[in-house]
Amino acid sequence: MKDLVVLISGRGSNMVAIAHACRDERWPARIAAVIASRPDAPGLAAARELGLPTEALDARAYPQRAAFDEELARRIDAHAPALVALAGYMRILGGAFVDRYAGRLVNIHPSLLPAFPGLHTHRRALAAGVKLHGATVHLVARELDAGPIVAQAAVPVLTGDDEDSLAARVLQAEHRLYPMALRWFVEERVHVEDGRVRLRDSADAAQAIACCFPPSAAR
Ligand code: GRF
Repeated sequence: MKDLVVLISGRGSNMVAIAHACRDERWPARIAAVIASRPDAPGLAAARELGLPTEALDARAYPQRAAFDEELARRIDAHAPALVALAGYMRILGGAFVDRYAGRLVNIHPSLLPAFPGLHTHRRALAAGVKLHGATVHLVARELDAGPIVAQAAVPVLTGDDEDSLAARVLQAEHRLYPMALRWFVEERVHVEDGRVRLRDSADAAQAIACCFPPSAAR
């Protein structure tokens, strides 16, 4: 049984999707802790409702980023997790932290990377006029939103979309994509070779390019 730690900052809907998949699909894993970067993160209540152990840090108590990262690492290491999943974790992590969890620190980003790293991805996708948008699960590297890509889900950008409708479509895809990708790590179906993620199984590799076109939306 592998232990996972999930880091959140906000509503935690990806964390909930991971928790459901872990339980319903009987992964050989459990969420040992959900740690929030702020005590008022709404996702903490959602985690408690699922019976998951929660912890919260208060950034105001750590004016230096390095001190915050060190405390976070101390809390994470107390669970000796096989995997640390960032799920809407909104703080930039320092290089030492990223190096410490190299190969087992995973993130989901709401765009088809390398397009639109950083914030406001849906707004920027609409402004750029892209026809496909989506989400990316990747390993975390020192450079922001730039680590090896594990899996991507594409969704269409429809006429009449605004930031909210596009965000909702991407989020739906995220809730399928992220648990799928984390399960590969838990079951050791994935490895990194020459800085790129390889899936051992060709069926998994086919799933790693998930096109989540709802039939009604693809017209
Ligand atoms: C998601 O869109 C995720 O891709 C991004 O932040 C958002 C978090 O949503 N990193 P939630 O907190 O999981 O609901």
